Amino acid sequence: MTRREFVERSARKGLSAYAILSAWGFIAPAPVKALPQESTRKNKRILILGAGLAGMTAAYELQKLGYSCQILEARDRAGGRVWTIRGGSTETELGGETQTAQFAPGHYLNAGAARIPHHHEVSLHYCRELHVPLEVFVNANEASFCYASGTKTGKRVRMREYHTDMRGYVTELLAKAIQSEALDQNLEKEDADQLLAYLKAEGELNSQFQYRGSERRGYGFSPGASEALDPSDPWALKDIMDAGFLHPAFANVGEYTYHQQPTLLQPQGGMDQLVQALKKKVGRSIMYRSEVLEIQKDEQKVSLTFRDAAGNVQKAEAEYAICTLPLTQLRKIKNNFSGEVKRTIDFVSYMKTGKIGIQFKRRFWEEDEQIFGGISKTNQDITQIFYPSYGFLGAKGVLKGYYNFHERAERFADLSLSQRIEKALQEGEKIHPQYRQTYENAFSLAWHKIPFSEGGWAHYSQKDRKRLYPSLLRPEGSLYFAGEHTTYLNAWMAGAFESARRVVDQMHRRIEAS
Ligand code: PHE
Repeated sequence: MTRREFVERSARKGLSAYAILSAWGFIAPAPVKALPQESTRKNKRILILGAGLAGMTAAYELQKLGYSCQILEARDRAGGRVWTIRGGSTETELGGETQTAQFAPGHYLNAGAARIPHHHEVSLHYCRELHVPLEVFVNANEASFCYASGTKTGKRVRMREYHTDMRGYVTELLAKAIQSEALDQNLEKEDADQLLAYLKAEGELNSQFQYRGSERRGYGFSPGASEALDPSDPWALKDIMDAGFLHPAFANVGEYTYHQQPTLLQPQGGMDQLVQALKKKVGRSIMYRSEVLEIQKDEQKVSLTFRDAAGNVQKAEAEYAICTLPLTQLRKIKNNFSGEVKRTIDFVSYMKTGKIGIQFKRRFWEEDEQIFGGISKTNQDITQIFYPSYGFLGAKGVLKGYYNFHERAERFADLSLSQRIEKALQEGEKIHPQYRQTYENAFSLAWHKIPFSEGGWAHYSQKDRKRLYPSLLRPEGSLYFAGEHTTYLNAWMAGAFESARRVVDQMHRRIEAS
């Protein structure tokens, strides 16, 4: 078949010419959508609400076009949910106690954004442009553990044992099904053979298409200069079931889901390196501790009332404004938005999610268990333990003792700070008995109790995505909305970046045309 014939045939099957051509490597992937480079209208002042990633990026791009921006930020720091906790970081949750992190120098917890998928082109674009060096964020790790409590087995199991055994048994079952399909003559012999060959390789089945264990699951002791190999025995399928590992809590999210497939990346030295880099560009435009109280918009202008750092109520006005505040905050701000937007602000729900960073005096997960980054999973409230992807073989380490969602996050959120630590240790030590002896300090947070965020990220139901979401994509008079909640990339920095670029583009075209 010639290339032309292939392209024509695929096109007849409904594949777009673009998809076909790019699959064949004939065209380069589209670059991060280009923004306008030129501006005829200088000196316009744009007000921006929120100095998170979306607000700072909008300011940065607008500045390039010659606009001057003023950013109002309620906190005394920039970055919003891109927030790195280090020794000395302090926070008081709504209705909570004040905590100050005690992490040793060089150690940190990315409390919000923590990983960058390799296909988030826009995030990588800004890391490149702002000179933020990246390193690998280890997400999937075959050495990490699965642990299910409340089952007969109650034993931690290496991911590689669980994955290899299940792949083996599932492919064995499929091979059986295919062999009987072939007997029933529903399958052409050659097709059945191809499928069987695939399953044999996929599950490492023997010549009778049975799974009898595999070196993929590891050895009793590591192969080396000893006299014999010590292959490990597979778990019986029934034992895996009884151990509770068929529960979705143990699904292979880290390798299968689009946003988590390797490779993931992180800035060296903490996610806030990105915030620092943006601050170098637009930091002078940020007014901290300036809390917006009221927004009035019409087609000509946006007027704001805000409380400044000194506690005085001030007014600000501009022909155009960008609001990046999470909907949880807009709910509390007096406004004259349209009914549609008011409804969206009131009804879109936000994810409850929390994390704890725990410092241990010894990196036992590396020293004793050969775990370098990645995630252990459990059906307990902690949900998962993330091992740091930096500082390997160092003296101490901060791991993420939980990162959870919904009710599990809520249960942790409702505890006092010391109770959270105790619960994280209690559940975590089932997987790592070294926890108690090596514990040094911890810092936890519940995003729905963090002032000025009050939620992890916008969490759209399908219905709300259809009914409510579109209202955020249009300007309200002279006011534009940005932030992850105005995209399909919820809970990702890429959403903040993309939304900033969208509103800069929309607003700039409007100004140029006016
Ligand atoms: N982006 C967030 C994270 O990396 C939340 C998220 C998790 C979003 C899983 C999608 C899938 O954890």
